[in-house]
Amino acid sequence: MERIQKLILLSVILTALLPGFGFCYSVIKGPTNATVLAGSEARFNCTVSLGWVILIWLSNGNPVLTVINSQGAVETSDRFTSQNYTSSDTFTSELIIRNTQLSDSGKIECSTQKPNESSFAFLSVQVNGSLFIKNSTLTVTENKTVEIVCEALGWAPAPDITWMTNDSFIDKSRYVTQQSQGSNGLHNALSILTLTPTDTEVLTCLADIEALPNPQIATITVIFCNSTIENDYSEDSGSTWVIVLAVVLSLVGIILLIVIIVVVVRCCCLKKKGGTYQTEVRKVSGAKKNDGDPENRQRHGSENQGYLPEERWNTAQIPRVTSLPPMSSKFTVPAADLHTSSAPKVQHQRPTDYPISPKKIRNVTLV
Ligand SMILES: *[C@@H]1O[C@H](CO)[C@@H](O)[C@H](O)[C@H]1NC(C)=O
Ligand SMILES: *[C@@H]1O[C@H](CO)[C@@H](O)[C@H](O)[C@H]1NC(C)=O
Ligand SMILES: *[C@@H]1O[C@H](CO)[C@@H](O)[C@H](O)[C@H]1NC(C)=O
Ligand SMILES: *[C@@H]1O[C@H](CO)[C@@H](O)[C@H](O)[C@H]1NC(C)=O
Ligand SMILES: *[C@@H]1O[C@H](CO)[C@@H](O)[C@H](O)[C@H]1NC(C)=O
Ligand SMILES: *[C@@H]1O[C@H](CO)[C@@H](O)[C@H](O)[C@H]1NC(C)=O
Ligand SMILES: *[C@@H]1O[C@H](CO)[C@@H](O)[C@H](O)[C@H]1NC(C)=O
Repeated sequence: MERIQKLILLSVILTALLPGFGFCYSVIKGPTNATVLAGSEARFNCTVSLGWVILIWLSNGNPVLTVINSQGAVETSDRFTSQNYTSSDTFTSELIIRNTQLSDSGKIECSTQKPNESSFAFLSVQVNGSLFIKNSTLTVTENKTVEIVCEALGWAPAPDITWMTNDSFIDKSRYVTQQSQGSNGLHNALSILTLTPTDTEVLTCLADIEALPNPQIATITVIFCNSTIENDYSEDSGSTWVIVLAVVLSLVGIILLIVIIVVVVRCCCLKKKGGTYQTEVRKVSGAKKNDGDPENRQRHGSENQGYLPEERWNTAQIPRVTSLPPMSSKFTVPAADLHTSSAPKVQHQRPTDYPISPKKIRNVTLV
């Protein structure tokens, strides 16, 4: 009995003393999970009791760094280095992974090269992609429903997308987000917000991943347009119609003048009664002008000045037979005249469309 008691006592003493002797050290504290942005650095600690012999760091099962008690760290890659911390009864090896890549994600293990003696954690490397809303401003009229698209490209993992209007979160039911797989293990997301604005508002699309200290944002200003402002837009479109009409009319004028020139040149070549042909040409051009703008008689004074030099020029050109290009360059003048004369036309029509303030509008054109 005494022997057995002594043996038990001895074994108790031995187990208590063994760690101190150095062949029964253990991992006191292993690494902890980490999430970092790609390209930044990741650090993991592994603390063992004194008397340790060897400590091996593994990344996804591959040894990346070994620390030997008698020699120190054995580094074989610039990306995997370590730092040591020693206290009275523990040793801590801090693994530093520089320039982390997406492929570094996974298991990080600290092994003491003893069976059943390893401790691990997970590294998550994430990618901060891009985020944008195509237009920075959008003008919306009353009762119009618009879809605003926010696009996130090249993220890992796919970001969480939320929307805000003027600093308050928008309900999830008002937007739809689709995620898709991009290239190189990256993810894209497309979020479509549907809204019917009743006021001007600043919309923000937020994309978040764990590694980002703050979500990335993209904004758009939705300018709400009242119906009164809408009328201004219809006036604008009316004036663009008049401009189109003016361009068409001026083109017709140019074609007519070319025809006249051709006739004049022909008659000049034939050298037959040039004078009578010229008078005919004048009649034709005069008739054209009357057809061209019947509404604009009052303003003809200025427009005729544009045409008359041409006719003089035509007669001056009769003795010399010239080619077409210089003529066509001259004929851009009537085009410009028609263009400017078309602007007053708009104002002439306006009073009938909007009888509220016809005099006001006239004043604007005079200025
Ligand atoms: C560490 O990450 C793994 C995998 O992501 C997870 O299963 C585990 O619960 C995490 N541990 C802690 C302590 O958060
Ligand atoms: C590792 O331990 C050292 C010393 O206690 C500490 O300064 C460092 O911040 C720790 N690193 C990590 C990643 O926990
Ligand atoms: C994430 O990317 C955006 C856009 O490229 C950039 O503005 C932002 O600073 C990045 N964030 C971090 C934490 O690197
Ligand atoms: C965004 O702007 C482009 C041109 O910059 C335009 O074609 C497009 O219609 C605009 N989208 C919206 C929704 O306004
Ligand atoms: C917008 O809708 C409201 C209610 O349906 C209606 O009273 C208003 O006239 C509409 N406005 C326009 C510009 O259509
Ligand atoms: C949102 O902000 C804009 C600009 O600051 C402001 O004009 C608008 O009234 C605000 N809308 C709401 C609903 O608060
Ligand atoms: C449109 O503007 C008028 C005044 O300019 C205002 O009285 C009216 O409430 C506005 N309508 C909306 C829907 O904001």
